[in-house]
This record gives sequence, structure tokens and C-alpha cells, in this order.
Amino acid sequence: MKKDLLVMGIETSCDETAVSIVKNGREIVSNIVASQIDSHKRFGGVVPEIASRHHVEQITIVLEEALKEANVSYEDIDAVAVTEGPGLVGALLIGVNAAKAVAFAHGIPLVAVHHIAGHIYANRLVTEMNFPLLALVVSGGHTELVYMKEHGHFEVIGETRDDAAGEAYDKVARTLHLPYPGGPQIDRLAHEGEAVIDLPRAWLEEGSYDFSFSGLKSAVINTVHNAEQRGETIKPEDLAASFQASVIDVLVTKTLKAVKEYDVKQVLLAGGVAANKGLRSKLTAAFTEMEDIELVIPPLQLCTDNAAMIAAAGSVMFEKGQRASLALNANPGLDISIHN
Ligand code: KG4
Ligand code: ZN
Repeated sequence: MKKDLLVMGIETSCDETAVSIVKNGREIVSNIVASQIDSHKRFGGVVPEIASRHHVEQITIVLEEALKEANVSYEDIDAVAVTEGPGLVGALLIGVNAAKAVAFAHGIPLVAVHHIAGHIYANRLVTEMNFPLLALVVSGGHTELVYMKEHGHFEVIGETRDDAAGEAYDKVARTLHLPYPGGPQIDRLAHEGEAVIDLPRAWLEEGSYDFSFSGLKSAVINTVHNAEQRGETIKPEDLAASFQASVIDVLVTKTLKAVKEYDVKQVLLAGGVAANKGLRSKLTAAFTEMEDIELVIPPLQLCTDNAAMIAAAGSVMFEKGQRASLALNANPGLDISIHN
């Protein structure tokens, strides 16, 4: 009988210090996430220096907790997978060095994982991946349509030319004086309002799968300022609903178009904005009629940053024979298309 594969994942690319242990690439044995959101809230966004300090303070505690909750020791771990990039360099370094220390001290193979590959592989904790597939990645730093013909193969067919979807959510939230992170706040408000304000949708050139959200973000800011100057009030709920409708319209329409052109079997939703209730329900509605295409949406806690997704991606990379050396460094601008 084949022995179980136990992979430890470590994620510190932004403001969550996370360690997880995943069995056979698909089963979460432990998943610890120490969030720093409260420390960054008063600054209205992630402060890199504060993030690094928190990671240093938390990493050993979170490592121990992940082992304890899984009821295993380092001797049981077959590989340690860590986020190599992209992300904040000072934050990534803490995870990379922790992973190297674990690998070196316990003689465990080290595997380097791309953060976005991790977000995509969060879906494998829900169901087996079925190729070819398309992943819609929507996070704080990325908005991408990724085509995968097999494990470890990532072809970016469209990406944002300016702001990422999550970034636009956070900036619009700030304009409405909502706390960081703004995505969940706008999502909540949107459901209390109506999309009655006319806002632009950036379709870009015919056939392009790229995205652009900065024009939409500016339109929201201008709408607020113009109303203020005229002494009018705009219902923030309606503005949130109108903004959300525009973002979702573009994301869903471009995804549906790509699905037809690339003839995929599965569509995976990934990244922090995948937690958006409006996006989840619009995508679900769009795919109910397409019987031959399976839509997979991870549970909320696997959409935002976590280490189970890094362990899930790392398990596949490990089985494919990928190994990182102890010279591994953080790579804040790591490209997914050359990473397999
Ligand atoms: O993937 P993630 O945790 O971190 C990055 O890799 O960037 O994504 C964080 C982003 C933030 O911009 C946050 O506002 C957004 O995801 N987000 C949401 C929701 N929950 C989190 N955006 C829209 N609706 C949500 N419910
Ligand atoms: Zn992320």
C-alpha cells in the first residue's frame, strides 16, 4: 500500500502568517492562519514593515500549532512547501527562511510554490482537477485568467493592465470611508443597495481577455466628489452595488468567453475576491446551464490567503519532482508562466 504523503505549507507573502499540513495533496490535516488585519486597519492598508515584524513574531508559534493540531512531528513530514513569490519581499523572506530552516534541520525536501498557483490549487482541496481547465484568479494583487492543460502548466491568457480587482475594491472602500480590507465591506453594502448608478465597464479590444479596473475606480471617486460638490448625497449602498455589478459583469463575461474559446472541462475560482458573494452567485448562475463544464468555488477560508493552498500546490510539484535548494530566495516579482 502506498504511504500517505504529508506536506507542510508555509505562506507569508502578505498579511497572514499561515502554516498547514495536507495529506495526499487533497486533505487538510491542520490549517493555522494568524491574521494581522487588526494591526494594518488603522493605516488603511498593509504596511510592509509591520507585516514583516508580525511574521517574525508569529512564524514559530504557527509552525508548532500546525504540527500539534495535525498530531504529527517533523519526522512525519515528506516535504515542506513555501511561497517563493510574488508578494512583499520582507514578508516572503520570513516564510522562505523558516521553510529552509525546517528543511535543513530535519532533512526534509523543500518545494517552492508560486502564490497564485497556491490560490488555484485551493480548489484541489475541494475536488480533483480536471484538465484542460480555466482559473479565474481575483485577489488583492492579481486579476488573471489562467489556462491549465495539466498540473504545473500555467498559461496566463488575460490579466489586469492596472489595478487588480481586490485593489479596486479596497480603494473604493477607502473613498466610502470603510475600514480595511474593503472587499468584504463593499460586498456587504452592495447587497443592501441597487445598481442604479451608471458606471463604466472596460471591455478593452475585441478578443482581449485582459482587464482594467482603474477607470472604474476613478469613476466611483469622481461620482462621490461631484455629489459632494453639488451638496447631494449618494446612497453608499447603491454606489457599492453599482461598482460591484460592473466588476462582476466584466469578470463573468470574459470568463464565459474564454471557456468557449478554450473548450475547458472545469472552471476554478481563486483568490481573495473569490469570497465575494455577488461573484460567487453570478458565476454559479452562469454555469448551471452548462452541463459539461464544472464550476468549482472554494469555501471562504480557502479563498483568502492560507497555507493549505500552498501545501496543496506543493504536493503536486513535489510529486512531479520539483525541488528547491537551500539557496532559495524570496522572489517578489515571480512569474507564474515559467513556474512549473
Ligand atoms: O488573495 P488575498 O487574500 O490576498 C492577495 O493575495 O492579494 O486577497 C485579498 C483581497 C483584498 O483586496 C480583499 O479586499 C479582497 O481580497 N476580498 C474581497 C472579499 N473578501 C476579500 N473582495 C470582494 N468581496 C469580498 N467578499
Ligand atoms: Zn493571495
